[in-house]
Amino acid sequence: MSDRDVRIFEVGPRDGLQNESVPISTNAKLRFIGLLADAGLREIEATSFVSPKAIPQLADAEAVLAGLERRPGVRYPVLVPNARGMERAEAAGADAICVFTAASEAFTQANINMTITESIDAFRPVIDRARERGWWSRGYVSTAFGCPYQGEVGEAAVVAVAQQLLELGVDELSIGDTIGVAAPADVRRVVGALDTAGIGPDRLAMHFHDTRGTALANVAAALEMGLRTFDASTGGTGGCPYAPGAAGNLATEDLVYLLEREGLEHGVDLDALLVAARHVSETLGRPVSTKVGLAGGWRVP
Ligand code: COA
Ligand code: ZN
Repeated sequence: MSDRDVRIFEVGPRDGLQNESVPISTNAKLRFIGLLADAGLREIEATSFVSPKAIPQLADAEAVLAGLERRPGVRYPVLVPNARGMERAEAAGADAICVFTAASEAFTQANINMTITESIDAFRPVIDRARERGWWSRGYVSTAFGCPYQGEVGEAAVVAVAQQLLELGVDELSIGDTIGVAAPADVRRVVGALDTAGIGPDRLAMHFHDTRGTALANVAAALEMGLRTFDASTGGTGGCPYAPGAAGNLATEDLVYLLEREGLEHGVDLDALLVAARHVSETLGRPVSTKVGLAGGWRVP
């Protein structure tokens, strides 16, 4: 990858939909994933093998994987919280996984009913197994900028959990602003602390929520620090039932527009992406609300 190439890690079908209360059919999810691949996205987080009691919306994870029309060159990671989730993912034909913990104890407890240390212990056999099978893997560090229960989160806590995840052998880390409280100074602080600890931009993705309108500013700050992988959700949906107050993820269409104007390569066709964004809004029965979803790309008159 050159310095002008940016990876977009699409989380719409997972983070985007997991907190939606209207029932979404497996077919609508599969159509969404197909439209995302049509638009040129090459990493699409497809679903979650978590407890269906914790996340009812994604209880059809097996059916989603079974119905997936896999495109060449596209990776379809799935979320796995424990050994049981790994068994399910293997049986369903997954080949890329994401484990997830957080930089704050209170959120980890609410979200996965474990301490941070317990979560690392739970992931060890999962990542060992993934490596044995040659799967790609990622570790999420949620609440890296703020916790809905504990408040401010210090960068030392982020570095500590990031190091433990990397020791397990994950291929990359996604550093999450789960409730959307960060501003560029926070990005510089956290990414800077990771770098000082020897965890450079090539191992990192940034995962911003746009709760307070700072997501794109945070992307710009991260780009300046050399980050080249960003999570985003087409249609701007997203949130977590265990993260009260969180609003949608950074919208993929907003990210794509910014990258385009910055002259960076991202491989996504904006018009095709807006088709996927409209599919999401029709599925959820509410109007498109993202900036670029409403305005479209800029067609010079
Ligand atoms: N898939 C399906 N079912 C699972 C499961 C998995 N990966 N892991 C556990 N379960 C089931 C158990 O079989 C058990 O079922 P039962 O009540 O019918 O006996 C029940 O869930 C409780 O299992 P337990 O091991 O005691 O888990 P827990 O109650 O401590 O919950 C998690 C732990 C991790 C399974 C649960 O908190 C979870 O799935 N969290 C995910 C939250 C999430 O996805 N958040 C959004 C992403 S940031
Ligand atoms: Zn998220």
